[in-house]
Amino acid sequence: MRVTHATTAAAFAAAVLVSQLVGSDLEVGSDAAYAQQRSVADGVYTGDQARRGRDHYRKRCILCHLDNGQGREAEPVIVGQSLEREGDPEAPPVAGEAFLKKWNGRTAKALYDTMRTTMPVGSAGSLSPQEYADVLAYLLELSKLPAGQQELPAAPDRLDLITIKQ
Ligand code: HEC
Repeated sequence: MRVTHATTAAAFAAAVLVSQLVGSDLEVGSDAAYAQQRSVADGVYTGDQARRGRDHYRKRCILCHLDNGQGREAEPVIVGQSLEREGDPEAPPVAGEAFLKKWNGRTAKALYDTMRTTMPVGSAGSLSPQEYADVLAYLLELSKLPAGQQELPAAPDRLDLITIKQ
């Protein structure tokens, strides 16, 4: 195990060195780059990706989760009066402190899987894997987590290495 670990670390160090030498970031999707555990505070998405995610979010999610991901409370229903409203769907927050607290300690994969298999309500799975990853990047941005040099991957095994922390 020691040998494997050392080898992985060496590969990672070599990849970093190469990327510095060529003056570019680690190749997106490079195995070495994903050999390590990290948290959402470590810059796990890029600004460009979050902008793409924002476009999808505005088309597919904003109706219920609103413009900053704050979610929508149920409208108070006053029985017997015309103030009763229909059609404003209720939804929990998908960004910010309370949201991060709820997911604290779980992985980006768990959140990604929840989004992919349940959202948008009524048409789960209707975005591509890449689009779900991009939307997730946007939710991290809305949660004031820092962007970094690498995109958030759409690969579940890599998302599994990223822990959600407040
Ligand atoms: C029609 C309303 C609606 C739309 C559109 C919608 N959602 Fe939701 N979303 C909900 C509701 C309601 C829940 C709560 C479901 C539950 O608790 O079972 C939820 C839950 C979630 C959660 C889990 C929140 C938590 O902490 O438990 C995430 C993440 C999420 N939605 C993301 C999205 C994304 C991303 C999109 C767009 C691709 C989207 N939603 C579109 C209504 C909606």
